[in-house]
Amino acid sequence: MSDVSLDKSVNKRRTFAIISHPDAGKTTITEQLLLFGGIIRQAGTVKAKKSGNFAKSDWMEIEKKRGISVTSSVMQFDYAGKRINILDTPGHEDFSEDTYRTLMAVDSAVMVIDAAKGIEPQTKKLFKICKMRGIPIFTFMNKLDRDSRDPMELISQLEDVLGIEGYPMNWPIGSGKVLRGLYDRYNKRVELYRPEDKDNPYLPLDDEGNLKNDNPITEDSVYQDAKESMDLITEAGNPFDIEKIKKGDQTPVFFGSALVNFGVQTFLDAYLKFAPAPNVHETQDDKTVKPDDEEFSGFVFKIQANMNPRHRDRIAFVRVCSGKFNRGMDVTLERNKKSLRLSNVTEFMANTRENVQNAVAGDIIGLYDTGNFQIGDTIYTGKQDINFKKLPQFTPELFVKVSAKNVMKQKSFHKGINQLVQEGAVQLYTAYTTGDYILGAVGQLQFEVFQFRMQNEYNSEVVMETMGHKTARWINPEQLDEKMSSSRNILVKDIHDEPLFLFENAFAERWFKDKYPDVELTSKL
Ligand code: G4P
Repeated sequence: MSDVSLDKSVNKRRTFAIISHPDAGKTTITEQLLLFGGIIRQAGTVKAKKSGNFAKSDWMEIEKKRGISVTSSVMQFDYAGKRINILDTPGHEDFSEDTYRTLMAVDSAVMVIDAAKGIEPQTKKLFKICKMRGIPIFTFMNKLDRDSRDPMELISQLEDVLGIEGYPMNWPIGSGKVLRGLYDRYNKRVELYRPEDKDNPYLPLDDEGNLKNDNPITEDSVYQDAKESMDLITEAGNPFDIEKIKKGDQTPVFFGSALVNFGVQTFLDAYLKFAPAPNVHETQDDKTVKPDDEEFSGFVFKIQANMNPRHRDRIAFVRVCSGKFNRGMDVTLERNKKSLRLSNVTEFMANTRENVQNAVAGDIIGLYDTGNFQIGDTIYTGKQDINFKKLPQFTPELFVKVSAKNVMKQKSFHKGINQLVQEGAVQLYTAYTTGDYILGAVGQLQFEVFQFRMQNEYNSEVVMETMGHKTARWINPEQLDEKMSSSRNILVKDIHDEPLFLFENAFAERWFKDKYPDVELTSKL
């Protein structure tokens, strides 16, 4: 059954993550958005938090050092009648499977690209996950206050490198020292860049795209070039296609500079017009759960362990998919059908304290957990069993061999590994020939967290031997032959007993393909 007031609340939600390569400007743009939302009053607040000078938290050193803080994992604010949830996707050294999993909990993504550098590797990886989910992706070409690449080149790179059509909503009038502004075809205006005078920056355009009133800018060759490019694109470029945008086949592109707060609000306003409200979620048995269904449901997409040994609790991040969350409500944990009371819930950065109590579809709640939850778990109210589709398995890229330092302590070693693997902290593989335990991760941080938690939560000191980057490729079990294993392509099995090879590099993989042309190699995401 649908609830009208619930439907209204849900339709106000916009839940997204920012995908970018480190240093493209994710933190800076997030700060500008928080400024618009009235969450912070001064730029530099989040940044300070990132470098660890902001607040003293009781989290462990590696968290403090890296500034991973629960409160900035989800940022919620109200702007222009919408309730916005920004989910943080940790990059830099904190890049991990959690970064990928966070993308399972959003309804759209904002891709921030350094306009001087173009598309960089981490953006490509994160884009792939968004593309797989078919969610809308909005692009912000950042750092226009510096000399940028030819905008035409940036747009074609989207298509050539990522395979997504770009639709420029506006066009830069110069960049760096000659940045004059934006030729904004979507809003039919020219937005002037005048850092010393922020009043009345807009010059209206007529239906032909010419300035309505005389202005000396029309004499400027930088302006003429931009207008010419925009005219060319309007004539010969991709037409705006909302259906393609919804599926992630076309991305609206905006230009600007987060640092000098130019073009960010223009981006935000248009983004909110086109970004989707929370949608239906599919279950394992191919049913759909509507966001305005009365019964509450959600799934765990991330678990963050408290690194302070005095507080062993963890926080399970739940994306609400339907119904209304109430503090103290009883829910069923689908995996074991246990009933749990949700009373201990953490608050995220928000402008009102009540937000978490009114969480609806699109919102994120953080549940204090003593070990009940695993990544991918569904929780729900009502008699109808709900089990959301499994989260995908990601292909790890980094590997270590792991063993217990003290051979007498095998029991706690095994218990710890099993629980941490189930929780989704790292992936576990076993070598066919030697029986060695091998851990896989997408980011180095996962190993450090694993080692620390094994010691602190399971009293098990582990030895890790770096194996470095490997390419993981699964094979059909029927084609399995242990003789195919070598030091350059190690045959292992995952926790589902599925066989795969860890190739030393692309060369080793090619060599293998030549030698065994009939063996099909597949990757996870
Ligand atoms: P990230 O979260 O994506 O890693 O990037 P972040 O926002 O931290 O930005 C990385 C660097 O790029 C920062 O400089 C930041 O000030 C700068 N930056 C971000 N947006 C713009 C922009 O629009 N124009 C210019 N010119 N620079 C931008 P930094 O020197 O590493 O840090 P800071 O100490 O100056 O803050």
